Amino acid sequence: MSKNVYLPYAATSEKAHIKSMVQYRKMHNKSLESTEQFWSEIASQFHWETPYDINNFYSYNFDVTKGPVQVKWMEGATTNVCYNLLDKNVRNGMGDKVAFYWEGNDPEDYSKITYKKLLEEVCRFSNVLKSKGVVKGDRVAIYMPMVFEIVIAMLSCARIGAVHSIVFAGFSSDSLAERMADCKCKVLVTADSVYRGDKLLNIKSLCDIAMDKAKNFGHEVSTCIVVRHLPRLYRSMNTSNGTNGSNSDIIDLHSDVPWTDGRDYWWHDEMDDVEPSCYPVWVSAEDPLFMLYTSGSTGKPKGVLHTTGGYLLYAATTFKYVFDYHPGDIYWCTADIGWITGHSYVVYGPLANGATSVIFEGTPFYPDNGRYWSVIEKYKVTQFYTAPTAIRALMKFGEEPVKKHNVDSLKVLGSVGEPINPEAWLWYYQNIGKERCSIADTFWQTETGGHVITPLPGCTPMKPGSASFPFFGVKPILLDESGKEIEGVGEGYLVFNKPWPGIMRTLFGNHERFQSVYFSKFPGYYCTGDGARRDEDGYFWVTGRVDDMLNVSGHLMSTAEVESVLTEHPDVSEAAVVSRPHPIKGECLYCFVTPNHGVTFTPKLSSELVKKVRESIGPFAMPDVIQHAPGLPKTRSGKIMRRVLRKVAVNDREVGDISTLADEHIVEELFKNRPEKS
Ligand code: PRX
Repeated sequence: MSKNVYLPYAATSEKAHIKSMVQYRKMHNKSLESTEQFWSEIASQFHWETPYDINNFYSYNFDVTKGPVQVKWMEGATTNVCYNLLDKNVRNGMGDKVAFYWEGNDPEDYSKITYKKLLEEVCRFSNVLKSKGVVKGDRVAIYMPMVFEIVIAMLSCARIGAVHSIVFAGFSSDSLAERMADCKCKVLVTADSVYRGDKLLNIKSLCDIAMDKAKNFGHEVSTCIVVRHLPRLYRSMNTSNGTNGSNSDIIDLHSDVPWTDGRDYWWHDEMDDVEPSCYPVWVSAEDPLFMLYTSGSTGKPKGVLHTTGGYLLYAATTFKYVFDYHPGDIYWCTADIGWITGHSYVVYGPLANGATSVIFEGTPFYPDNGRYWSVIEKYKVTQFYTAPTAIRALMKFGEEPVKKHNVDSLKVLGSVGEPINPEAWLWYYQNIGKERCSIADTFWQTETGGHVITPLPGCTPMKPGSASFPFFGVKPILLDESGKEIEGVGEGYLVFNKPWPGIMRTLFGNHERFQSVYFSKFPGYYCTGDGARRDEDGYFWVTGRVDDMLNVSGHLMSTAEVESVLTEHPDVSEAAVVSRPHPIKGECLYCFVTPNHGVTFTPKLSSELVKKVRESIGPFAMPDVIQHAPGLPKTRSGKIMRRVLRKVAVNDREVGDISTLADEHIVEELFKNRPEKS
């Protein structure tokens, strides 16, 4: 074994589900060689209304040249995910167990909900959805802050067989409109407004704009249900124990919430009139559970579709092993539910294990930079799952904010969203984990449904920056440019030739695109779009995207989607966007813009463009640099040579061979035009 390896803490290993690499390898081999047996043992822990057939447990085709790509697990069996997450746990005596602690943006604003209460609320909201005409297969869009109601809305969809389509509430009204029109949602569930730090965001106003814009795409949302969230702080202040008070405590702050009668309904009004029980709809294991948009390299978002049975097994199993979850643990994932991490590891995975988790509405910096550590101390969190960008941002403030809090309850630390740089890994390991906690650097994607390459706590010797080894059922393969499998040490395209239960099944309404994006480059393989290296000990190191995607603060976006926003500006003729390394965000957007003939590039134009991207996509997509480009470096066939632009962005004059450019002089011009000295 090479140097820089951190062995798991012995006391953790003793109690871990997987105690050694020998045990891991045995289970991993079983998962690949006796796939049916491995997953059916897990499936047997859940409720199936119609049982699965062990002789027809799963089937797939990854080879487009042999027919349509398809993946099926436990087809023919019926179940209900909500039933397995709530009713089953309540029946098993966990009704009074806390499902979620809720920690609001303001530290004075907090609450909790038990499994029994969550089930009751979900039944009520299922009845509300039914009363609005939602039936099995209908899509329900959700655009909400991190409050209990987002979980209630998701599970209510699952209960009645509707498909939730959550749009992260940091997306712009344009993005929301495009996604609602694409999935043709019948209902939109949202909230009035929310505080993030000391900033008030008027979510409902933004939804109104989005619902109007969706009409331009030919789609009308018939019902919008609005959670009254803002006065919750006042409610909790009016009750002694911090739980939600009654409606009579609510101070009316809503005279200015925009409203359309006949379309808009208050959540609490609707919930008052319905029964607290609702029989679950038994759906097929291959019926859709949810869809979630992720950026596509052409600029148009892709509606990744996950189905019922396989996703349930995979979210539950990865949660149990990757966080080494045991009853009594208090788990906290900081991801927003609007991203896949929030779906699988705030909602589905933890509830499937009957876990108690924290849902956090705020930011790591409010009211001070020690907020994360204070929440860990308050709830005695045992597993903490966050993103490298947050770790890097918090590292800036040194160890003092951490030292003010007792974080000794922690056992496992997780990382997700982008490769974690070794410096951040070590800071996390030493200052938060006190060299006792395992770090699970989890590599996965919206498309994979759950972790696919990750260390297991108490088991895997860790190498900072390496996601290490595949999860059960997963066999990563590296391909060279010609599609040949690379054995042993080497670097190439990260692909898979066999499905695990949680992999997506299609892109909503566009199976053609699903096949062409993921399965056409190397027939027979699912292509992640990432590159990876395997080292001499067999560890995988994900090296980053090999397509035109950018990863800014763990948010994936395509160069094409930003470029198309820039070129919509009437003064812009052409634009090219590349990523540049950023000390906190990981990568940031560096945009080259060619103005129309006769238009002068001014600071005003530059700030208009920044604003336009922010408004069209969302604040997280805000470019760091807009550079004037008198022309773009194009080959004679007209293709933009992005590698040259990436060199300009970092001021590295080693641009390599540029002899195929139509006009080589443009490269020097671009270096001269850099807005920054460095
Ligand atoms: O490039 C990889 C990067 O994030 C991409 C997936 O983004 P998304 O679908 O938005 O899901 C993010 C949360 C799972 C991947 O293709 N990525 C994610 N986690 C890691 C990572 N890259 C390296 N190491 C990771 N741990």
